[in-house]
Amino acid sequence: MKLLVCGGAGFIGSAFVRVRLGAGDEIVVLDKLTYAGRRENLQDLEIDFVHGAIEDPDAVARAVEGCDAVVNFAAETHVDRSIAEPDAFVKTHSQGTYVLLEAVRERGIRYVQVSTDEVYGSIEEGSFTESSPLAPSSPYSATKAGADLLVAGYVHTYGLEACICRGSNNYGPRQYPEKLIPLMILNALHGDPLPVYGDGMNVRNWIYVDDFARGIGTVLEHGVPGEAYNVGGPDEAPNIEVVKRIIELAGADESLIEYITDRPGHDRRYSLASDKVKALGWEAAERFADGIGRTVEWYRDNAWWWEPIRSGDYRAYYERHYGRSLG
Ligand SMILES: NC(=O)c1ccc[n+]([C@@H]2O[C@H](COP(=O)([O-])OP(=O)(O)OC[C@H]3O[C@@H](n4cnc5c(N)ncnc54)[C@H](O)[C@@H]3O)[C@@H](O)[C@H]2O)c1
Repeated sequence: MKLLVCGGAGFIGSAFVRVRLGAGDEIVVLDKLTYAGRRENLQDLEIDFVHGAIEDPDAVARAVEGCDAVVNFAAETHVDRSIAEPDAFVKTHSQGTYVLLEAVRERGIRYVQVSTDEVYGSIEEGSFTESSPLAPSSPYSATKAGADLLVAGYVHTYGLEACICRGSNNYGPRQYPEKLIPLMILNALHGDPLPVYGDGMNVRNWIYVDDFARGIGTVLEHGVPGEAYNVGGPDEAPNIEVVKRIIELAGADESLIEYITDRPGHDRRYSLASDKVKALGWEAAERFADGIGRTVEWYRDNAWWWEPIRSGDYRAYYERHYGRSLG
């Protein structure tokens, strides 16, 4: 199969590209290369690369030429940035998804929209199923939910062959260090303070990135058009437990933990029921207890990957956001 992977230079998109090359697919990546998109993530992989935005119909037309399906990862993905500057989120998730849907409609090819558990909002107990109502609470999740609804509208109106795949919190190699796990790993390795929002008791459902990538592949191959599929990880943990485990693995000290003012509108708990994708034959392979160890090791061994980020624009972002500089 020849696949167009939009946002394939990011954290999950590049893991998906690796999985699909391994399965014998031909890959074209279309990526705008925002601060989070990096050619390094695709280093040594045999792919075609188109530098462009999903909201640009000409770039999309060039990239989609000859492809059998489109998988869309392209997104602005950091909730904190969506609170500070929502405009890019609206443009990429709304206009970008629309342009991609038009391109697949015109060509009659299959489409998978990569989405998130955050579209359901927060849940105190139990887990969200695919028929739970969408109740997003940040500009990030609201615009992701909007994109999901646009996909559903195109399926209903035009009979598009499209599925939606909603993942829980991913972790693993090549995640941009603004996100909880790589942030804590790199700060712990450098002896920098570890900023924890609120009381640290926000619970997340962790999935290893390769498991999510395989789940998206399962939906691409076996998903029923018009259906959404939750792809949740096997383990849940409050943030503070994750942080303490990282401290242990990095050989740092718990005195580095610094509780800071909570994120506005911070969702308390996410949890997905993934029975529907399991019925298609998918199962998570990595438990959090093992995956987190491998992840800390990867960051320890791959300074070449994060050094240019940590010494670049990220420092200014960090200072602006946390009101202190990195050591
Ligand atoms: N990270 C998670 O925990 C998680 C969980 C569930 C779902 N998701 C979803 O998975 C997808 C990928 O997330 P990620 O963590 O890999 O994100 P990421 O921020 O690492 O990568 C996003 C990629 O999209 C590209 N991009 C951004 N705007 C673009 C545009 N307008 N046109 C073309 N390319 C553009 C970036 O350059 C980057 O390569 C997103 O849709 C996200 O909502 C992420």
